[in-house]
Amino acid sequence: MQVSLIILAAGQGTRMNSDLPKVLHRLGAAPLLHHAMAAGRALDPEHVVVVTGHGADAVAKAALAFDDSTVTVRQDEQLGTAHAVLAAASASVVHSGDAIVLYGDTPFIRAETLQAMLEARAKHAVVVLGFHAADPGRYGRLIASGDSLDRIVEYKDATDEERAVTLCNSGVICADAATLFRLCRAVGNANAAGEYYLTDIVALARAEGLSAGLVLCDEAETLGINTRAELARAETLFQTRARAEALENGVTLTAPDTVFFALDTVIGRDAVIGPNVVFGPGVTIESEAEVKAFCHLEGCHISRGADVGPFARLRPGAELAEDVHVGNFVEIKNAILGEGVKVGHLTYLGDADVGEGTNIGAGTVTCNYDGVMKHRTRIGKNAFIGSDTMLVAPVTVGDGALTGSGSVITEDVPADAIAIGRARQVTKPGLAAKLFDHLRALKAAKKDAK
Ligand code: UD1
Ligand code: MG
Repeated sequence: MQVSLIILAAGQGTRMNSDLPKVLHRLGAAPLLHHAMAAGRALDPEHVVVVTGHGADAVAKAALAFDDSTVTVRQDEQLGTAHAVLAAASASVVHSGDAIVLYGDTPFIRAETLQAMLEARAKHAVVVLGFHAADPGRYGRLIASGDSLDRIVEYKDATDEERAVTLCNSGVICADAATLFRLCRAVGNANAAGEYYLTDIVALARAEGLSAGLVLCDEAETLGINTRAELARAETLFQTRARAEALENGVTLTAPDTVFFALDTVIGRDAVIGPNVVFGPGVTIESEAEVKAFCHLEGCHISRGADVGPFARLRPGAELAEDVHVGNFVEIKNAILGEGVKVGHLTYLGDADVGEGTNIGAGTVTCNYDGVMKHRTRIGKNAFIGSDTMLVAPVTVGDGALTGSGSVITEDVPADAIAIGRARQVTKPGLAAKLFDHLRALKAAKKDAK
């Protein structure tokens, strides 16, 4: 059975007190929207439709960045969740199969839960994800008998008796797409909020003789983000889960509570991550690699057996092959390091290729930016870049070549050559002693004059 996702993300999120649309606030270094999309992706959906409204262009861009086959559709006026689903229908991409409605501000729904909802569709025309709320607050209440659902009543419209129900609506709904759209078209807005409630489709389905059912999940899964305080709490929750997952997957974390993961961090078995390591988006680390304390990594790949840090920064496009060694106070950006390359200390490599077995001396800098454009540095295999070499790009250093310490390399260096680009040393025997005698005499003369 094919399934499509409809992700509602048009709301403003007034309580975030922000110019940024709510679903673009970051959790685990990824927009909230990506979390909902990631849970849905595990179902291998045929179509993903994201309904945008507030900050539509930015939200659409973020959706496409996650998956460029996403269809985004604009809901200019936010007239309610059923109205939003009909905006998705107007995109005319989802025609058949099941559709699951998710919210862009609800990041913790698990793929397994969505799978359970799809399975429950074998018994019910409409399946709603519910939970038992510790404090049901303003959630919609599920009026059910057993796993059969009669209707959903929104808090604003509920009687005291209905408000006493603690079984609540998460907002996630699954139905055959054609049925979902048909029922949404029948939804009216004669209610306390004057909105078109998606939740009304349950009673409408029942009135047609269709069955509606329930799947239950843990309350933590349905946690929605409405305020910055909730976002901060969600971050803690996300990190706690990500750490536990990494440990379970066979990653060693010496101080788990100090390691911060991103939504898409991938770390292989038997990798070791030291204390105070921060993962930005787009990091993959292979098995048996080690990241030592206080590293900041984003958009990079670290291969098996490589070791990085302490105090290293890998930025987007840093590709480390097997057994690369990157030491302290090294920054690498958009650079490909071949197998066994060593970059021990105090170095910046940006826009560079470094061939296997090459050693980069302390204090080396690729001068990649001329103030207007970026240029590439190409270093061959088994080369030796002397300490404090400035490589003024574009420049190439051939295989097996060597640069003298302190060189400013502005011209290409052929394979196996030595290039020295610095002033020749001048040594003057005895001159230091003479100079110091002279300076001391000057100082003494000054004292006498006072
Ligand atoms: C909704 C449910 C409620 C449930 C709760 C769970 C309805 C009528 N009510 O209430 O039963 O307990 O979620 O959190 O569905 N959105 C749009 N366009 C719109 C309206 C909303 O895209 O026109 C999006 C919002 O951005 C948000 C989501 O849909 O991501 C839910 O909307 P919201 O206004 O938060 O609904 P609730 O009142 O919380
Ligand atoms: Mg809400």
